[in-house]
Amino acid sequence: MAQRSAPGSRQLSPLRSHSNGRNPQLDPAITPAEDPAEHPALNPGCVAVITGGASGIGLATAEILAELGLRIVLADNDQAALDKATAQVAAVANDSSHVIGIHADVSKMEDVVRLRERAFDAFGEVSVLLNNAGIGLKGTSFGDLDNWKKVMDVNLWGVINVQHVFVKAMVLQENPSVIITTGSKQGITNPPGNPAYNASKAAVKSITEGLAHELYSTHANVTAHLFVPGWTYTAMTKGDSDEKPAGAWSAHQTAQYMLDRVRLGDFYIICPDNETKPQLDRLRIRWAADDILENRPALSRWHPEWKSRFDDYIREGMQDEQRRRKSPFRKIIITDGDAGAD
Ligand SMILES: NC(=O)c1ccc[n+]([C@@H]2O[C@H](COP(=O)([O-])OP(=O)(O)OC[C@H]3O[C@@H](n4cnc5c(N)ncnc54)[C@H](O)[C@@H]3O)[C@@H](O)[C@H]2O)c1
Repeated sequence: MAQRSAPGSRQLSPLRSHSNGRNPQLDPAITPAEDPAEHPALNPGCVAVITGGASGIGLATAEILAELGLRIVLADNDQAALDKATAQVAAVANDSSHVIGIHADVSKMEDVVRLRERAFDAFGEVSVLLNNAGIGLKGTSFGDLDNWKKVMDVNLWGVINVQHVFVKAMVLQENPSVIITTGSKQGITNPPGNPAYNASKAAVKSITEGLAHELYSTHANVTAHLFVPGWTYTAMTKGDSDEKPAGAWSAHQTAQYMLDRVRLGDFYIICPDNETKPQLDRLRIRWAADDILENRPALSRWHPEWKSRFDDYIREGMQDEQRRRKSPFRKIIITDGDAGAD
């Protein structure tokens, strides 16, 4: 058992002896700015807590981090999947005792408090919190009220519960840490079809932006990141298909992209997939914001009278991007590093 910190006080890290000399607080020669590939929260010996860790993107992130040498706490409300996932992650870890699975329903505050107690009891601190559990039940604008409640309980209240319970403890830690919260492009561009899910993820964007700003102003040792997966083949999206569609990314691709972007310090981590390149996402996001500025109908992108204008805008935007990519000044013009994802 690791030493528990006294509530409300900043404590020396129980991970001091496990951080392989890579902790920038102990070794001023290594800082995130000097060596972005070595983020101080993503080193061997650090601890990751992953909600929704029994499947999909959460499980893939756990496997990558366990291979890297982090200690892993998987949290999920599906006990059978959790047992299987814990064994799977333990199999890729150096030491299987460094991986534990804890049954927790993130929509229940008492479960989340117990999750924090057990994570800190086991490993002493939390360097990476992936606030990721989510469900995709459908709720239309004036139907499916039960589904609205379920979606909000998990996607909104689950995120709030985990954030409240863990961040209070993480800001007291000596070592730098990261909070990564899983949103969705549907929370940004708001496509018709599932307004319940969209609204939950729009709230996640707002909550995570607020958290990042508040931490920056008060506890710079902890950073927040909004993780927005692209189309990723998981239990949530697979439907009846047993094979990953060509357009989707695997959960490992998405998890790896997210971790690379966290290492670079990005707040907005908008993942591409095999169908949607970063420049297409940028154009769609800009169009959605322009609905307000241009006083267009709501969701004009899908409005019959605006559809052809939207299609023209995308075609011209993509051509512009192509021209810029071919420009001899490309390195100066394109600075956001998405070339590798194409
Ligand atoms: N797969 C995609 O294309 C995609 C795209 C955008 C966003 N997302 C988001 O990514 C996150 C992970 O989804 P995924 O695609 O890996 O799906 P997934 O279904 O494979 O994994 C979600 C996990 O969350 C768990 N979970 C559900 N409700 C829970 C609760 N109340 N408490 C604890 N755990 C709970 C599930 O048991 C499951 O193991 C979700 O927040 C989802 O909204 C996924």
